[in-house]
Amino acid sequence: MNFVDELSVHFLRVSESAAVVAAKTMGQGDRKLSDLKAVEAMRHELENIELAGTVVIGEGERDEAPMLYIGEEVGKMDERRSVYPRVDIAVDPLEGTNLCATGSENAISVIAASEPGGLLKAPDIYMNKIIVGPSNRGNIDINAPVEDNLKAIARGLNRDIEDLVVIVLSRDRHVELISKIRAAGARIKLITDGDLSAGITAALRGTGVHAVMGIGGAPEGVLAAAAIKCLNGDMQAKLFPFKKGDEERIKQMGIQGGFDKVYMVEDLAPGKNIVFSATGVTQGNLLKGIRFFGGGYRANSVIMTYTPTNKTTKFVENIFIDSLGTIPVTLF
Ligand code: FBP
Repeated sequence: MNFVDELSVHFLRVSESAAVVAAKTMGQGDRKLSDLKAVEAMRHELENIELAGTVVIGEGERDEAPMLYIGEEVGKMDERRSVYPRVDIAVDPLEGTNLCATGSENAISVIAASEPGGLLKAPDIYMNKIIVGPSNRGNIDINAPVEDNLKAIARGLNRDIEDLVVIVLSRDRHVELISKIRAAGARIKLITDGDLSAGITAALRGTGVHAVMGIGGAPEGVLAAAAIKCLNGDMQAKLFPFKKGDEERIKQMGIQGGFDKVYMVEDLAPGKNIVFSATGVTQGNLLKGIRFFGGGYRANSVIMTYTPTNKTTKFVENIFIDSLGTIPVTLF
């Protein structure tokens, strides 16, 4: 097994572990607790993997996040660490903390990795994004009017604009975007949270979603790009100034091009080797949530890899049974 395949097996366990503990807190109304549980589990699982990882997209800066902060060294910490493969790691242990806390759909646990420098070290600010599937590779332009993009996306899918479904985060900042999409005639699915999972859904055929548009987190944007690269979809993005100090922050991080720079998939996830794993926490469009039964649980994950020679996407259902549990009789 090559390293990418090996890592994908480990990462399946990492995202699954985070998803299971987060799912235990579903509906408790405590988003911080749900996130903390997922972070702890992910951090703990990473300690068992023979890799020398550095977190490039994580839970925030060192002073604001106790674990999985940007720059943290993760992986097995033993005397052989110097010979372990070096990788950059991007995590979102719980995407949709509110979704989990309220028992709403589409919370997921996510981890991705690439060789050092293979994932953009994006600041934790907002990012304007447009994400589409493989049929629309090369058809989008984030600087073009919304209607032009929708026309191009419809053409790429060989359908009318009226037959498109676009996911947009339901936020005040999107009032204008939403009215432009409506004016162009496309259908809209407003979501309360989770534009990363939405982005992956848009890049998969048969999900009934054709694009994601609008402003969400930049870290989620980098993770989405890693998945989109594995799925052969397309994405363009621009960092978006929202809070006082955002400009200063991107300067400090040495980001060239400011808020006008258009990031393509290759800018966001330039890695030659990428591993991506996501597990459903709550029931969702992309993945089923964790389903507990007496003595165990079932987990649904998607594991993707990208190498210079191939791309793979696997949907996996794991059934875990502890020593006292029995396998559920009804499998579907
Ligand atoms: P959390 O996982 O931190 O709860 O973020 C969820 C999310 O909805 C992302 O999917 C999205 O990119 C971002 O928050 C949008 O940020 P905001 O809620 O500030 O509009």
